[in-house]
Amino acid sequence: MDVRRQRTFIMVKPDGVQRRLVGEVIKRFETKGFKLVALKQLHASDQLLRNHYAEHDGKPFFPKLLAYIGSGPVVAMVWEGANVVDVSRKLVGATRPSESAPGTIRGDFAIEVGRNIIHGSDSVESAQREIALWFRPEEVVEWNDHSNEWIY
Ligand code: PPS
Repeated sequence: MDVRRQRTFIMVKPDGVQRRLVGEVIKRFETKGFKLVALKQLHASDQLLRNHYAEHDGKPFFPKLLAYIGSGPVVAMVWEGANVVDVSRKLVGATRPSESAPGTIRGDFAIEVGRNIIHGSDSVESAQREIALWFRPEEVVEWNDHSNEWIY
């Protein structure tokens, strides 16, 4: 697969939506140069969240995690571009906001792991799995930039 066409799944969590940080998150991904290919707001079902976080089932924080992400609407997105999985992890910052660097989304906006604003896929394989879980194929939009045909 062409690394320039790599895709990742990004979700603004309920606290990010409630704090009106959706635009800020989109701005950071857009100004970095990535391409938005899918976007929707939804209140995720318990089953969807159990599937999404299946690898953490059984961990002590699992019930709290499900309650938190299910507490309100989230904004789900697919972003495309060169090495977008790894680069977006850097934009998002470390899972624990106490460890995330200033300049990252969590480093700038979050204090607690239980309210860390945003989720980003941690590998190309996870991204493929998560995109397929959250979006139907027709909801992911292929588009090309033709601006060189109309910007002089
Ligand atoms: S682990 O055990 O190291 O694999 O877990 P980790 O990668 O640190 O976290 C997995 C996801 O669970 C979220 N998390 C929590 N949510 C709520 N409360 C607590 N205490 C908590 N601890 C971890 C963490 O943000 C990860 O979710 P995502 O959406 O991937 O950021």
